[in-house]
Amino acid sequence: MTSTVTEAPARQVLPAEERYAEELAFLAAYDSGPRPPGWALTPKAAVTFICGSGDEPLSLPEPVKGVPGELTVAPKFVGERSLVERCVVTLAGERGLLLVGEPGTAKSMLSELLAAAVSGTSALTVQGTAGTTEDAFRYGWNYALLLAQGPTPQALVPSPVLTAMRSGRVARVEEITRCLPEVQDALVSILSDRRLSVPELAGTDEATLSAVPGFTVIATANLRDRGVSEMSAALKRRFNFETVAPIADAAAETELIRRQATAAVERAGAPFSVDDAVLDTLVTVFRDLRSGRSAEGWDVERPSTVMSTAEAVQVAASLAISTAYLSAGEPLDLVPGHLLGVVRKDDAADHARLLGYWDGPVRRRAEDGSATWRRLWDLRETVR
Ligand SMILES: Nc1ncnc2c1ncn2[C@@H]1O[C@H](COP(=O)(O)OP(=O)(O)O)[C@@H](O)[C@H]1O
Ligand SMILES: [Mg+2]
Repeated sequence: MTSTVTEAPARQVLPAEERYAEELAFLAAYDSGPRPPGWALTPKAAVTFICGSGDEPLSLPEPVKGVPGELTVAPKFVGERSLVERCVVTLAGERGLLLVGEPGTAKSMLSELLAAAVSGTSALTVQGTAGTTEDAFRYGWNYALLLAQGPTPQALVPSPVLTAMRSGRVARVEEITRCLPEVQDALVSILSDRRLSVPELAGTDEATLSAVPGFTVIATANLRDRGVSEMSAALKRRFNFETVAPIADAAAETELIRRQATAAVERAGAPFSVDDAVLDTLVTVFRDLRSGRSAEGWDVERPSTVMSTAEAVQVAASLAISTAYLSAGEPLDLVPGHLLGVVRKDDAADHARLLGYWDGPVRRRAEDGSATWRRLWDLRETVR
């Protein structure tokens, strides 16, 4: 039997508004209260979308077609609710929001979730790089049309920022500090005047494009990149800064890593088989090296790499995939090799710092009689 129906190919990653389409539709129906212009959800529902609804399922006041009557909204960002509330309030006031922090603290994730909750799309995104030009914030031209017709509104190719202005949505600028300062400054007039002039279209209605209510910008910046300090004062003033810190609570971090690694391993077609003792150990090492202090209060020399939660998720997933596909032995035995891969990136001295961690906390815990740490200590040769 032949079929002419072609299925859309599976996609590796779905944008937040598609992955969580059911939750977003539910929350829009659940909280029908007043909302800022252009918003898909009320500010309160936007916070619930990101932080979760707790253990109790929420129930719709009355049935709505195509929406489940009851739903528990999963928590997505692990961290202070008050931070998420401030972000939402900033956007409700149509202020720019700048999320700063170490790499891997979920700044991009938070920006995507906020844009999906507020505007129903996280796709209006500019990825900042050293090669980003002003066009990425303003507009470009379709050169074939430009040659054929001259500068007409049809020949203008809007940037994601311009599309957001015209439709009253949130535009995202990732890694804004990687853009050259003069390119960043294209945002100053957009955020202050809320309009964009197109000199090529002078004399037409489209010579000035004005933002529709709802338009604002969420930018992210990594503290490890060339600094936020290099942003112009004019641009800084147009943003509310929020610092996203690594997850404070060890149990919450472990839980998140288990959840996300399980999902990643399922995508690879394998079960998540890493037991709690191994996961706890992994998280302990990451947190000790990240903070420069062990859970017991011993000093630890910090490597120059970040030891982010995101990388811990990847290591946990790799352990499970190795065990499932390569029968590579005990997951714990693979931990030192993966740690070396995470730590040894930029600075040769980081390798020595990891060895120092072995000769300090790992050894002391082994001497205290813990079987897991004893085994890691026995594997010291593998980090040499
Ligand atoms: N506080 C957190 N809450 C939820 N997920 C987190 C958190 N911190 C790190 N992660 C995980 O780390 C991943 C990487 O985050 P990302 O948004 O790319 O970080 P950043 O943009 O800060 O470098 C996230 O997709 C998520 O899997
Ligand atoms: Mg990012």
